[in-house]
Amino acid sequence: MTGPASDAPRAAAGDAIAFEGVRLKFGGETLYDGLDFTVGRGEFVCLLGPSGCGKSTSLRMIGDLLAPDSGTVRVDGRAPRDAWSEVAFVFQSPRLAPWRDALRNVMLGAELRFGRAEARRREPAARALLAMVGLADAAGKYPSMLSGGERQRVAIARALAVEPSIVLMDEPFSALDPNTRRRLRAEIERIWQHTGRTVLFVTHDIDEALTLADRIVLLSNKPTRVLETIAVDAARPRRLADDPRLARLREHLNRLFASLEAPSDTDPEEPTA
Ligand SMILES: Nc1ncnc2c1ncn2[C@@H]1O[C@H](COP(=O)(O)OP(=O)(O)OP(=O)(O)O)[C@@H](O)[C@H]1O
Ligand SMILES: [Mg+2]
Repeated sequence: MTGPASDAPRAAAGDAIAFEGVRLKFGGETLYDGLDFTVGRGEFVCLLGPSGCGKSTSLRMIGDLLAPDSGTVRVDGRAPRDAWSEVAFVFQSPRLAPWRDALRNVMLGAELRFGRAEARRREPAARALLAMVGLADAAGKYPSMLSGGERQRVAIARALAVEPSIVLMDEPFSALDPNTRRRLRAEIERIWQHTGRTVLFVTHDIDEALTLADRIVLLSNKPTRVLETIAVDAARPRRLADDPRLARLREHLNRLFASLEAPSDTDPEEPTA
C-alpha cells in the first residue's frame, strides 16, 4: 500500500481514461473546477465521493453523453466520441428488456452495436458470458423470473458482450442485499482478473472500494476536485477485517468521508423515509 498520493501529474498516453483540467457548469453552478484523474489500462479504479459530487457525470463524459466546458477527457487516448466502442456501462438498476429472456438481453447490446446477424453469430459468446456470471441455466428465463442479483449479473454479461476494453459501473450493487452484494463483488473481481478489462467503478461504499480497487479516487464536495488518490496494493481476494493496513485506510477514508457528507449535503432526490 503506498498511501495517499497526488494524481494530477500522472496522465500518460497509455491511460485508458484521463481527465485533465475538466471544468463543467450546470446552470450557474460549478460542478467541476479543474478535475484531474486517470485510469490505467487494465486497472480497477473506484471513484468514491459524496452524493451529488459528479461521479455519474464523469461516467457520462467518458461515454460521450456530455462534453466539458473546458479541459479534456481522453478515452483510450482519443476523444470520447471516437472511443465509444471501447466503453460499456453497468448501472445501479439492470435496465433489462422485460420481453427478452436472459440470453437475448445479453445479446441486445451487441445487436444494437453490430446488427442482428453479427449478434446471432456471437450467441455462443453470450452463452459463455452467462455461464461466467453463474447463470448458464437461466438463459431462457425472463427478467421477472430472476432475482435482483441475477438481473444485475445479466446486465454485467450484457456489458461484456460488446467486448469493451473499458467497463464503467455506476453503483452496480447498491440496490442489492448485503450478501448478494458481497457475492457479486467477488464475482466482478474474478471477471476483471480473468478478462483484463479496465474498470471504473463508482461507489459510496468505502469497504466496497477497499475490497475492489487498485486505486481509489476520492472526490470532494462541489466544486469537485480530487481530494486524494489512494493506491491499494493488498493481495486479493481481500478480507478487510484481517489486514491492519486496510483497517487503517478504512479509518482514514471514514474520517474524510464523514467530513464531506455533512447533513446539508443530503440529496433531495434520495428518499429519506
Ligand atoms: N443535466 C443536468 N442538468 C443540471 N444539473 C445536473 C445535470 N446532471 C447532473 N446535474 C447535477 O450535477 C451534480 C452531480 O450529479 P451526479 O449525478 O453526477 O452526482 P453523483 O456524484 O453521481 O451523485 P450520487 O452519488 O447521488 O449518484 C448534481 O448536483 C446534479 O443535480
Ligand atoms: Mg450517481
